[in-house]
Amino acid sequence: MKKISTSVKIFMIINFFCFFLFALCCKAQDDSTLSKIKSRGNIIMGTSADFPPFESLKNGKIVGIDVEIAKNIAKKLGVKLETDLELKISDLSLSSLMFELKNGTIDFMASGFSYTEERARNVNFSESYFTASQEIIVKKNSEIKEPNDLSGKKIGVQLGTTGDSYCTNLGNMEVVRFDKITDSIVALSNGNIDAVVIDGFSADKIVSKNANLHKIPKNLTEESYSIGVKKGNTKLLKIVNEVLLEMKQNGELEKIINSYMQPEYVEESKSFFEEYSPYIIEGIANTLKITFFAAIIGILLGVLMASLKVASKSNKRMKIFDVFVTFYTTITRGTPALVQLFIMYYVIFSRISKNPITAAIITFGINSGAYVCEHVRAGIEAIERGQFEAGRSLGISERVLMSKIIVPQAIKNILPSLTGEIISLLKETAVVGFIGVMDLSLAGKKITSVTFEPALPLFIVAAIYLILVAGLTFIHKKIERRMKKSDSY
Ligand code: ARG
Repeated sequence: MKKISTSVKIFMIINFFCFFLFALCCKAQDDSTLSKIKSRGNIIMGTSADFPPFESLKNGKIVGIDVEIAKNIAKKLGVKLETDLELKISDLSLSSLMFELKNGTIDFMASGFSYTEERARNVNFSESYFTASQEIIVKKNSEIKEPNDLSGKKIGVQLGTTGDSYCTNLGNMEVVRFDKITDSIVALSNGNIDAVVIDGFSADKIVSKNANLHKIPKNLTEESYSIGVKKGNTKLLKIVNEVLLEMKQNGELEKIINSYMQPEYVEESKSFFEEYSPYIIEGIANTLKITFFAAIIGILLGVLMASLKVASKSNKRMKIFDVFVTFYTTITRGTPALVQLFIMYYVIFSRISKNPITAAIITFGINSGAYVCEHVRAGIEAIERGQFEAGRSLGISERVLMSKIIVPQAIKNILPSLTGEIISLLKETAVVGFIGVMDLSLAGKKITSVTFEPALPLFIVAAIYLILVAGLTFIHKKIERRMKKSDSY
């Protein structure tokens, strides 16, 4: 009893130490100061590229009015910092932009973002560069003819937008929130919702590309778009305001807006494959990269944890490890992988690195380690106790007993569940798009956001997952067969 309480004490001290380190990390400094931008050599704009003509994907690139403004900001800032600054654009969920800004993952946000008092408590807004209003898109044959008809209907909005607040505050309709505007448009076209409330200028662009939709010409709100910087980043804000003022005075802003108002010129049409294969290829590469490295971390961690757990069973002094491993597997298996990914990326990682792929690899590595640990432990425990006892009574050392007798048999027990674990890992990585990693699933969604046609890209993505899983299963079968052969000797 005395021993256990000492173990628990040590365990608590370790925990306290970890939390202390974690808190220290969280106090690390701001990463979007001008000197940081200068030393990085790039400035990062955060946006949600689903909002033509302000930001949308075209031939694999993000283009639009906000991008043109951002180019000017990068140029001006580069001049001030005496360096050539590269403009990087991070395509994220609109609802996560303010977090990203706070965390310093992006330096500023330009996303057709409307000023509101509530938002101004968390970000610093620039001067306005565009006035807008929420409007309604419906299907051409819809019975919704004016704003009052929205009452009692299912209305689609983009999560966290002013359209979302407007509809939610009215309270007389069912608000369906989508991460990307494109998803709401697809839902409207499919008849899943009755209307979409969205900024008017963007509504025009969307309607011009979708013959079955039309816009109700009534303004629901009055808003103005501004660029957001991190609260307190007055130096960057000053430069953004200078750029906007210059662009207004020399007529460039008006010219850009007018040029994006024109119906898009039709480019030489490329085949679906030619146009979208780069997304798919990048998606496959990232999905495989995350799965591969996470699997390695998971296996190493899982084997280590399982060995500690098994060893702690026969050795009272190692009881502390049992408590530790149980703590690790309970937390990891008891919380959703997506939440772990958010915590890793937005809380822990934001102070250490800005690379979402690394954050994803570590999260899935740790997550998978907990499952591997259980598989390995079960695999070892499935071996007859008699074998341990026989080995010991023959005077075989613990190390030789484990490495020559127990582990080879355990591997055979574990292999099927381990392959199963890697296969689920591959499929689980499909959530990394939430932190902006272009994996296979996000590639499918990105293509949908340009074509407004979800079936083909999503079926292609599903087929590729299936092929990858079939490949893993094939490898697993081969290893299993080889092991069976070696068994017969
Ligand atoms: N103006 C609206 C808002 O600030 C919608 C912005 C949507 N922007 C986007 N890139 N999806 O909430």
